[in-house]
Parts: sequence; structure tokens; C-alpha cells
Amino acid sequence: MYNDLDEERIVSSFAKESENTMETDLRPRSLGEYIGQTKVKERMQIFINAAKARKKPLDHVLLYGPPGLGKTTLSHIIANELGVNIRITSGPAIGHSGDLAALLTNLNEGDVLFIDEIHRLNASVEEVLYPAMEDYALDIIIGKGPSARSLRVDLPKFTLIGATTRSGMLTNPLRDRFGIIERLEMYSVEELEQLVNRSARILGIGIDRDGAREIAGRSRGTPRIANRLLKRVRDYAETIAGEIITKDVANDALEMMEVDKLGLDGVDRNLLTALINVFKGGPVGLDTLSAATGEDPSTIEDVYEPYLMQIGFLMRTPRGRMATEAAYKHLGIRFNDEVNRAYKQMSIFTNNEDK
Ligand code: ADE
Repeated sequence: MYNDLDEERIVSSFAKESENTMETDLRPRSLGEYIGQTKVKERMQIFINAAKARKKPLDHVLLYGPPGLGKTTLSHIIANELGVNIRITSGPAIGHSGDLAALLTNLNEGDVLFIDEIHRLNASVEEVLYPAMEDYALDIIIGKGPSARSLRVDLPKFTLIGATTRSGMLTNPLRDRFGIIERLEMYSVEELEQLVNRSARILGIGIDRDGAREIAGRSRGTPRIANRLLKRVRDYAETIAGEIITKDVANDALEMMEVDKLGLDGVDRNLLTALINVFKGGPVGLDTLSAATGEDPSTIEDVYEPYLMQIGFLMRTPRGRMATEAAYKHLGIRFNDEVNRAYKQMSIFTNNEDK
């Protein structure tokens, strides 16, 4: 495992990354503590053990999936399990190839470099990353014009962990250089219930089974949301209700926050209502839906749609977004025959994975 010094370094990068120490405390530090993503954990444990036994750096890892599922948390755990340091940055933060070169040359042998939102790296930075990933080397161009020369500088052997909500936006050469590609799935209510219980224990909050289940069921399959709702329900429990979070306390608090039984908030309802009332249930293009609701298209796509599709309220069809009968029912809007017919026709072409 890792020694005290390593732990201190890892912990200090936790602290640097987030002002919110609560968030940090709730993060599991080992694969054993990490709830859910069973298959990913199993595979990662094997790859980590093999790399350690070989005394070689772990191959580069690409983690993708909707926001809030624990890509950053898992990266910290991987570094922790490997017993190495983690350096954290993000695609948009690396403006120039020189910034990346500086980061890479400052790594220690075996370290993890975590690049969040890796799909947002610009092309010239990506070029530097290719030889770095493949050969652990930097190609530096000296001079200009005909007299320019390329100089190769060796880098410490490191592991790149890239995280993205959009694996489809990665260029092929970049994607091809990851030896391990894992998709994180949304969590089940049971998994989130375990997570809420674990977080409540760490935060010293009293909660009963039904209280934990109520929060879990409204967390949109997402640990980050489960932890956020738990903290807000705790505020409510401490100031208005009893000290313990019961089903009723959780229910009242979440109702006050306008988070409904399925975890939909005002924005979700607004999107679905616009889709149904303005566009007769769709199909409607993303940009049109964005203009009608005032929500940013990529926020709709990355943050709202994955869960609405997961619960079967929204479909992405080749001709645009459509609301399903279940969405009508949930919002208490009549699903009439005209819509029904259009829906049936569209379902022939439907593929939820399509954009
Ligand atoms: N916090 C965020 N993700 C988590 C997970 N998968 N298990 C436990 N705590 C978490």
C-alpha cells in the first residue's frame, strides 16, 4: 500500500482540489470502501495488482460517464492503491503545450496525472500528450523554419487517467492510447442507500433505513447528488424536525427543496413540460429545446438527459428528443391518441444511444 508520506501527499492534493472538506471526508480511499461499479472495481483491482507485481506503471486509464458518478474519486483511489502521488488538472486548464510539458516533467516515477474533461484539450496540447503516453517522452522543437530541430526528452513513467462525460468527443488517436477504458454506470437505489448510510455515519447524522432509502431514491443514480441531498436534509432535520432523519423528515425536506419522488428538479420538469406542451412530445432537436427552455445544450445533454433516459422519460431518436408516455404520466399530462400514434411511429426508429 502507501506510506505515511504518500498518504500526506495524496491527502494534500484532495484538499487543494476542493474547498469543501466535507466532500473530501466522504470520499472512499480504497476500492474496498468504494460502493457500486462492481465490475469496474473488479477489473481495476486486477490491473492494479498486476502493475504493482510487475513494478511497472499502470497503463493509461480513460473513465467516462455522466457527471457525479465518482470518476475523480476513483482516480484518487487508483493512485492510493498504487501507492503513488496524484496530480490533478483539467482539459480547459491546460491552455498551452508548455503547461502540459511542465506538468509532465514534474511528475515522479509511477505518478498518476489526472486530467478531468479531457475531451476539452486543445489540439496542440493533445499532440504533446501522444509521445508522452506512448513512449514517456516529450518532443521539443528548437528553433524555427528550416533550421528547426526536434529534441526528445525522457519523462518519468506515469499513468494518465483521463475523465470525460463525452467519450464520443475524444479524438481517435487520443482514445487509442488508453489501455484501460471504463464506463461508469448510474447507481441503483440500493447502492445509493448504502452510500447515504456510509456518508451519514461519517458526518455523524442519525438516519433510519427508510430515511436513507428516501434520499437514495431521489438522487438520480448519482453519489454526488445523494451526498448533497443528505446534507440539506440534515440541515432541515437539525433546525425544523427531529435530530434523526426518518422517511417523513426526508420527504418533507426534499419536498421543500422541490425535488420530487423520482429526484426530478425544476429544470427536469421544465424540459419535459416544454417538450410535451410546446413540441407535442417531440421529436425536437437539442438546440431548439435549449432555446425554448434557456438551458445550455451541453448541460441538457450531459447533466439532465442521462437520468431522464435512464428512467425512461426521454428518448433520443434520429429526429430529435421525444417524451415518453411515462413522462406524461409523471407530470399528470394526458397522453392522447395523436401523440400516441406519433410516438409509436417514432419508436420504430428509436435508439436511446443515438444523439
Ligand atoms: N462517494 C462518491 N462516490 C462514492 C462511492 N462510489 N462509494 C462511496 N462513496 C462515494
